[in-house]
Amino acid sequence: MKITYLGHAAFSIEAHGKTLLVDPFISANSLAKDIDVNSLEADYILLTHAHGDHILDTEAIAKRTGATIISNFEIVEYYEKKGIKGHPMNLGGTWQFDFGKIHMVNAIHSSVFPDGTYGGNPAGYVLETSHHKVYIAGDTALTNDMKLIPMMLGEIDLSILPVGDNFTMGIDSAIKAADFVQCHKVLGCHYDTFGYIKIDHKEAYTKFAKKGKELTLLPIGDNLKI
Ligand code: NI
Ligand code: MN
Repeated sequence: MKITYLGHAAFSIEAHGKTLLVDPFISANSLAKDIDVNSLEADYILLTHAHGDHILDTEAIAKRTGATIISNFEIVEYYEKKGIKGHPMNLGGTWQFDFGKIHMVNAIHSSVFPDGTYGGNPAGYVLETSHHKVYIAGDTALTNDMKLIPMMLGEIDLSILPVGDNFTMGIDSAIKAADFVQCHKVLGCHYDTFGYIKIDHKEAYTKFAKKGKELTLLPIGDNLKI
């Protein structure tokens, strides 16, 4: 599995020959100016919630690529009205796709589209292929529910966690979240994009290392293979 960071909370994940885009917010992110939104491939677009900093480029990419949106019922319905196909899910559900399974798990946050349309409940996902399990937390606070993930799904190979604080977990909560999901390999997201969420990278690395955890903060455009 190859996971490429596209800035903020956006990733491109290659799994079993398919490409999943997660929370594409790229064209308005000055830090991601070297990412060409118009050439990104997507078979699926996985959306954690309806906030603008997660859905911004979804419509354009889906219309260009014909990608299927995977998200909660309300978000999928919103895009279906624009002629974009989707696979609706809700919390607690699992579905077997051609690239692997998606488990939809709890996130503590809010979810409304920039135009005011209700965006259902925010969520995280566990992407499970025949080889790996990756937890994509989405925007969330630390929550005890994270303990259910290894309890139900077994060992998680990588956790993609927000670390920017203010709108989501910060570094200390993310370290605790890694404990809760029993996964010591963390890929950080949702940091540095705007003023409220700027973090000190060195301090973040030091804090994770002190607790015996491996943090990765990828330069935008770089990838990690598991
Ligand atoms: Ni949000
Ligand atoms: Mn956000």
